Amino acid sequence: MGTKITFYGHATLGVETDGYHLLVDPFFTGNAAAEPLKVDIEKLKADFVLITHGHRDHLGDTVDIVSHNGAKVICNTEIGDWLEKQGVHAHMLQNGGVWNFPFGKVKMTFALHGSDLEGGISGGQAAGFILTTHQDEKLYLAGDTGLFGDMAMIGEEGIDLAMLPIGGFYTMDPEDALRAVKLIKPKVVIPIHYNTFDRIRQDAGKWKEKVEAETPTKVVILQPGESYDTAS
Ligand code: NI
Ligand code: MN
Repeated sequence: MGTKITFYGHATLGVETDGYHLLVDPFFTGNAAAEPLKVDIEKLKADFVLITHGHRDHLGDTVDIVSHNGAKVICNTEIGDWLEKQGVHAHMLQNGGVWNFPFGKVKMTFALHGSDLEGGISGGQAAGFILTTHQDEKLYLAGDTGLFGDMAMIGEEGIDLAMLPIGGFYTMDPEDALRAVKLIKPKVVIPIHYNTFDRIRQDAGKWKEKVEAETPTKVVILQPGESYDTAS
């Protein structure tokens, strides 16, 4: 049994593992890439919501989703404190922190990015996650990030599947994302955080060609609404 990743456009991902439903950076309202999918967030299945940082295109519809389905949030302390003021319970980790959740193990990793919340409130340090499933698969959700050399240390953990931003402007562009693949050495990579709007428009097909020519990593391009199963 594998882990199923569903791409909702931008950086919004569904992760189904061992019967648990996770949502990562659930940005639906105002997400031009997700809009055609007409996702009913009141009916979205989610046991846990993972938030990488405080920006609106990542925190997204978290409060709304959690108030409808009671999902638990996993995020850093600063975002967690802010959510708790709104009645949302959060499991708060910090960079480097690891915790065993019912669905698997989560490590919060560093991300080279900002993290302010609405109204200029500090959202703490931006993050990514390494998720180790019960099948011992390792998934690296990089979050919004620029290229940093310590991605090589993340790679040392043996990453099966990485989700990396390639859009540029706010994050790594395709060129730096290729360098990231060379540091992380994942078996498979899914590009995210591109084509949602003009400023981050990129040719993922061209990136796939380049990555697969220069590294042993396989690139899986998902259109919004499409899924990838690690068992496939
Ligand atoms: Ni951001
Ligand atoms: Mn973003």
